[in-house]
Amino acid sequence: MKKIIWIACVCSLSAATLNQSMQSYIESLKVEAKSQDSAFVDFSASEGQKIFTTQNIGRDNQKLSCESCHGSNLQQNGRNVFTNKVLPPLAPSANAESLTDPKQVQKWLKRNFKDVYLREGSAKEKGDVLYYILTK
Ligand code: HEC
Repeated sequence: MKKIIWIACVCSLSAATLNQSMQSYIESLKVEAKSQDSAFVDFSASEGQKIFTTQNIGRDNQKLSCESCHGSNLQQNGRNVFTNKVLPPLAPSANAESLTDPKQVQKWLKRNFKDVYLREGSAKEKGDVLYYILTK
């Protein structure tokens, strides 16, 4: 019975279901976010949308947003503006591999925040964009 309740709670977090290791990663981001701001309660997909769609003068003095490479429809392929390589869709609903490996996710969030914002994202910002991507 307890297990059923637990599963129900976790699934209600977002439309898409995260695997165990990604859930642990999100939990660790929450702990970090809370330690940086005691008023923190949960991540916000709408804040994540702002982070994802806002343009900034980023790498190589280019005006970039996360959409510059991933596109505005996350269920479709993107294209890397620097290398011109095709990127698989970010939306877990369209790409079963997306948001399954915390190592990959951490690596790319670190790089991609630097590309767009010229700095690493905070735990709150990373959680917000992940919540946003999960709604796609
Ligand atoms: C310069 C191009 C570029 C920009 C800008 C960019 N990304 Fe990416 N992103 C990539 C590439 C390349 C990958 C790796 C794709 C692959 O090989 O699966 C990636 C992967 C990711 C992944 C990992 C998906 C997974 O589970 O494997 C996340 C999350 C992500 N990006 C989020 C973001 C966010 C948030 C931003 C804005 C802060 C952003 N990206 C901006 C190029 C970009």
